Amino acid sequence: MGILSRKKEVRSSSDPADQAIDAPAQSEGVAPESVDIPAVETVPSQPDAAPDLPVEPVEEELARVERSAEEEETEIRLKASELLGPIRQDPPEQRHEKSGNEPGTDLAEVISLANQKGGVAKTTSTLNLAVALAEMGNRVLCIDLDPQGNLTMSQGIDPETLDKSMYNVLVDDLPISEVIHSCEIDIAVASLDLAGAEIAMSTKIGRERSLERALSEVRGDYDYVCIDTPPSLGLLTINALTASNKVVVPVQCEYLSMRGLVQLQNTLKMIQDNLNPDVRIAGILPTMFDSRTLHAREAVAMLEENFGDLVFKSRIRKAVKFAEAPVRGASVLKYDPESRAASYYRNLAEEILKDGSS
Ligand SMILES: Nc1ncnc2c1ncn2[C@@H]1O[C@H](COP(=O)(O)OP(=O)(O)OP(=O)(O)O)[C@@H](O)[C@H]1O
Ligand SMILES: [Mg+2]
Repeated sequence: MGILSRKKEVRSSSDPADQAIDAPAQSEGVAPESVDIPAVETVPSQPDAAPDLPVEPVEEELARVERSAEEEETEIRLKASELLGPIRQDPPEQRHEKSGNEPGTDLAEVISLANQKGGVAKTTSTLNLAVALAEMGNRVLCIDLDPQGNLTMSQGIDPETLDKSMYNVLVDDLPISEVIHSCEIDIAVASLDLAGAEIAMSTKIGRERSLERALSEVRGDYDYVCIDTPPSLGLLTINALTASNKVVVPVQCEYLSMRGLVQLQNTLKMIQDNLNPDVRIAGILPTMFDSRTLHAREAVAMLEENFGDLVFKSRIRKAVKFAEAPVRGASVLKYDPESRAASYYRNLAEEILKDGSS
């Protein structure tokens, strides 16, 4: 049973907000069990070590009861997390000592922005998050892994004029440094021929690891690498997830946008099992949030109910500046640094830094 179904059992049915959130599923004839969305795993907190002091017999007994209650709780939570699947497993040894680089190494942390649904703000989030991380003093590389080349264009580069791009890196093993352009941040560019890369790579040995191999050349030069992925779960996205430590999942604040998350989660599980056991979801990012509409508020409530603290606290609200900035070949942080729109991604960057250092 998924977390949605499980939570529904304990929710008060008299809560009008809950009834409103449930409404779309019923109106579409979807049984609650079929909306069996996420497998969220929480990290069980460790019981404190017993104090090393002599205690009175009664206090000792109390301490023992308390300890066993804590242990029981930990055990129950472990069982629940096992049932719910291994998505947000973040054992202490995998947490980062400092922001950016992987623990004990000077290698960049690699973050993919992925969701196979189109138009959910993957590209917008990749660029603005990357620029926000750079503003904080990090060395950041963006990779455009989408044949549409929107990230490349949003830095003022015309993909049609490029003679070398990520296609050549993935298919012909061209060093990635040869397709990196210096803009607001460094960007490894895409051109339209990237659309043919999946077929061209399909006969290569280790085709899922082409990007990971290419990145090894430059991973020591950056603190963060942010990868924009296409709206599909094909070989390009698989390459991105295989090369990543973390995945940020932008989700438009609409009911229908949430349904594809199961598919994304299944792909991620397959990658964890076969290609990259360390990749995990850093968070789900509610985008294009319009707090004036009931539907958007319900959609966020539903996300939080199902994914708990996996949902970022940051909200990317709707703002026309996000459509204007790419026309100027700039991030929103450069286009209008003082705008509220810019602050949304600064907040997200801070949240990601905190997650890396906790
Ligand atoms: N917070 C926002 N408010 C208003 N418009 C936005 C916001 N974020 C993104 N947009 C606009 O929504 C459209 C889709 O955004 P974007 O291209 O980032 O999505 P995407 O997920 O990368 O799309 P695709 O799946 O096609 O690659 C763009 O026109 C963008 O300018
Ligand atoms: Mg895009």
